[in-house]
Amino acid sequence: MKIIVVSNYDEMSKIAAEFIGKEIKSKRNSVLGLATGGTPLGTYTKLIQMHKKGELDFTSVKTFNLDEYLGLSPKDKNSYHFFMWDNLFKHININPANVQIPKGDTDNPAKFCQWYEDRIKQAGGVDLQLLGIGRDGHIAFNEPGSPFDSRTRIVGLSQETLEDNARFFEKGQEVPCQAITMGVGTILEAKNILLIANGAKKAEICAKFIEGQPSEEISASALQKHKNVTIILDKEAASKLKNKV
Ligand code: F6R
Repeated sequence: MKIIVVSNYDEMSKIAAEFIGKEIKSKRNSVLGLATGGTPLGTYTKLIQMHKKGELDFTSVKTFNLDEYLGLSPKDKNSYHFFMWDNLFKHININPANVQIPKGDTDNPAKFCQWYEDRIKQAGGVDLQLLGIGRDGHIAFNEPGSPFDSRTRIVGLSQETLEDNARFFEKGQEVPCQAITMGVGTILEAKNILLIANGAKKAEICAKFIEGQPSEEISASALQKHKNVTIILDKEAASKLKNKV
């Protein structure tokens, strides 16, 4: 795993956007795996800026999002559908037909999960997967104990994740306790993986997944098994690494 430590969130976002931009420039029909949450927001803003300057063309890019809350319709303001369109897709020239996000209001979740896996395969697999990380080590919504060979499926969210994600919901609104998520095994099939993390709250888990023994109790530690992983951390998220980079 290649580790890059930068001074702050803005620098992390800039380098991550340049990394993604390089991928799109080298392959105009790249397949991107995308994440939601607070961490990639700055990266998406930079990608939008690059597009507006005429540096990035998304016409042929395909995207697959990692996860979605089960039970939320794409129109729900708390859905990851809404998040992605609001924070990225509506600002760039992506073809809506090339955007895939798990369907939270599907009436047949098991069938949908298989369909999603098949769509990723039909697209030729993910070229570059962008990831954030939860404080419990989750990537996508693969909570502790997720098998390293798990596939797209329905999962329950941990108490810690529910608490962390409550900040995106209005007061009194409950965070759905289940989600559709790509599996750890699905993620590991991406050709190239970029994980970004910032802030002191992520320091402990970053040290564990990067420097500890791989364990299914820390889903992100599965990335140690992948040949092509880049991790961009700000100083705070890197503060508990033993081996200074
Ligand atoms: C979101 C996702 C999650 C987040 C993680 C970190 O699509 O897959 O794994 O990346 O929960 O969230 P933030 O960035 O809000 O700290």
